[in-house]
Parts: sequence; structure tokens; C-alpha cells
Amino acid sequence: MNILSIIEKKKNNQALTQQEIQFFVNGYTTGQIPDYQMSALLMAIRINDMNDEETFYLTEAMVHSGDVIDLSAIEGFKVDKHSTGGVGDKVTLVVTPILAALGVPVAKFSGRGLGITGGTVDKLESIKGMNVELSQEEFIKNVQVHGIAVAGQTGNLCPADKKIYALRDVTGTVDSIPLIASSIISKKIASGSDGIVLDVKYGNGAFMKTKEMAEVLAEKMCAIGERFGRKVVYTLSDMNNPLGRFIGNKVEVIEAMDVLANNTANTHQDLIDDCVEVASKMFMLAANVSQEEAAVKVREVIDNGDAYAKFLEFVEAQGGQVEDLHVNDTAYTVEVTAATGGTIESVNALAIGELSVLLGAGRLTKDSPLDFDAGIKLVAKQGDTVAAGDIVAVIYANVEVTEEMKQKAQAAFHIA
Ligand code: URA
Repeated sequence: MNILSIIEKKKNNQALTQQEIQFFVNGYTTGQIPDYQMSALLMAIRINDMNDEETFYLTEAMVHSGDVIDLSAIEGFKVDKHSTGGVGDKVTLVVTPILAALGVPVAKFSGRGLGITGGTVDKLESIKGMNVELSQEEFIKNVQVHGIAVAGQTGNLCPADKKIYALRDVTGTVDSIPLIASSIISKKIASGSDGIVLDVKYGNGAFMKTKEMAEVLAEKMCAIGERFGRKVVYTLSDMNNPLGRFIGNKVEVIEAMDVLANNTANTHQDLIDDCVEVASKMFMLAANVSQEEAAVKVREVIDNGDAYAKFLEFVEAQGGQVEDLHVNDTAYTVEVTAATGGTIESVNALAIGELSVLLGAGRLTKDSPLDFDAGIKLVAKQGDTVAAGDIVAVIYANVEVTEEMKQKAQAAFHIA
């Protein structure tokens, strides 16, 4: 077996065998297959696709490229969630304490943001003192004692995905259903949870541009997860508009706390609805109840303060100090006004995500430093009516906000 014949085979639109897939995953992870050959193969997969068997074998090979976390020391059904990435997506920060407050153990490994999509680990690190680099022992102990731990992925979890994802990012091969499905599900399987809720986003701020494509991806991920013996369900959510009112890191933590504390005036219903939907699906899997029954329980722990109290306990257990969190902590606060009057048809998630990266709230490369305080508040959202000159957004920045940035923010508001 050699890599050239595998590339030729995929180029000619033939299905690869389990052995061939294992061969190129192992070969690339260990450095025996160079980037240029792997790039050619990834592009052939991007163009000619993979069938369900191939996608399963690819996922399996990536799971076994590194450590598989053993969560058996934690009692109960462990439930995880995964979002395919979005702008203003702070759902993990809200749903994990809700589940823990409901008595479901949450052992969650999260990632950092890349490009316009934010990451939970970055958001948590914006809390002073918060430690997301827990050893496996600390991680398991925190779940046993507090019912919740959220940490960054350990170095050896799916190393194949780490390498392949970085290469896909710079070779135009991210938007491939088998490559996305295997990348996401391999990490979830290696993270050890029994049940997984997939929050699959579609729209201009997401990898999947249409709802139909998002559904195909979601169905494939469920089928792969189930072949590994996990319970997997999904929800589809619109990412044509940013989620909630805040985009950034610290500002998103504050908004998540507002949702948990039921301060609805400081957030937006779209975020609350998405959080209740994801949390209900997680509880439905863990407790074997209907989604409607689960939703009642989820609302209960928000309304009685248990979920908020659990968030504070979780942050404190990982060294974080929430007292120091303020929205307006930057050198510059700049208001953005509506160019014309009318009803807001949409707020372009891609443009707002790009602006957040320019402000330093997101990163373009894996090593870009972040400005945790930088961010954007959407004062107006889809469906709101505004007059010309009304404030529609506020930019918080430590870099000077240029005219170009202000115009980008203003142009993101499509007003009918
Ligand atoms: N998120 C991942 O982890 N992998 C992908 O390929 C896309 C989104």
C-alpha cells in the first residue's frame, strides 16, 4: 500500500478501504506522509466525497490516533454537546451549568475559536484566574465533587484531527461533509461521553451555508455516533444572524450569566431559545424523558436560581473570579448608528464575526493573541424597527476604531 495509489484512487472517485484510510491517517499523524500528499488527498475527498462506510472508518482511525478518555469513574450518564461554530455562540456557557444543576454530570472538553467563530475555552479564560488546563485527575474530581468541569482538549486527544484540521484550514478543504463529520465526531467519541447533542449551524456565519446541507451533515454525524454506541441527537440553528446581543469573550460570559440569572433585558430571546432547546435535548438524553418534560425542568433551574448558582460554583472550582467582569472595560467605546430607517431584515453574522477579529476578540491564526475585553453589542437585532441615526451597535475596543470598521458594522445591518 502506498499513499500515491490512495490519492489516485480517490481522484478517480473510488471508495477507499478501511486499511487504506487507517494507512493515510496513521502515516500523516506520525509524519511519514508529507503535507503536499495529504493536501492532494484532502482535495480529492473534498471534490469526490466519501460514502458512509469511508466516513465511519475515517472517524474510527482519528479516534484511535490518540488517547480515549475514560469517564467511567464518574457515575451516571455523561452528556456532551457540540456546536459546529458560530458568531456570538455562548450556548455551552449556559447549558453546562443547567445540566449540572439538574444532576447530570457534565465532563466537557471544549476548543478555542478560529477565524470568525468563537471558542468556549477562550471565553472562559477571559474570567480572571480561570484555569481550563486541568489534568485528567483534576477534571474527573471536579465533575465528581461539583457535577461539572469544562477544560481545553488535552494534547493527545485526536492528534490526527488536530493535524488534518490545520491543513484543511489552509488548503480550502474545510467545507467537506465527511471531513467535518469525522473531525467533530472523532473528538466527541474520544472525549468519552455517553450522549451527544449536536448544535448544527447554517447560514452565512457558519460552515454549512444552507439548512439542507446542515441537515445532511447532522444526519451523518448522528449515524456515525450511533455506530460507536453513543446516543446522538441534533438541533439545527440559524447563523445568518449572530446569536444573542454580544460578540467577544468577556462580554459573552457576562451575557451567558445574564441568561442564567434570568436578566432577559440584557440578552435576546434567540439566545435563550437556543439554550433551552440544547439543554432540553441534553436532559432528554440523560434522563430518558420527552423534550417537553425536559424543557420544563430546564426552565425550573433557571427560574429558581440553581443554574446560576451552579455556574458560580463551577467557575470558583476552576479558580475564576466573576466579580471583576465588566462589559465596558476598553479604551474606546464607539456607537454605530443606522444608515436609514426601517425594519432590520438581518444582521450579517459573517461581517460581525470579521469585525470582532479585527478588534482582537477573535484570531486569524492559532497563535494570534486575544483581547478578552474587546467586543460588540448589538443594540438592535433582526425584526427591530429603527430610525436613521438610531444606535444599532456599540463597539468596545482597545485599538482605535477606524472609519472602515464603523462602516463595516453599519453595513452589517440590512434595513428594509
Ligand atoms: N469543527 C470541527 O471540530 N471540525 C470541523 O471540521 C469543522 C468544525
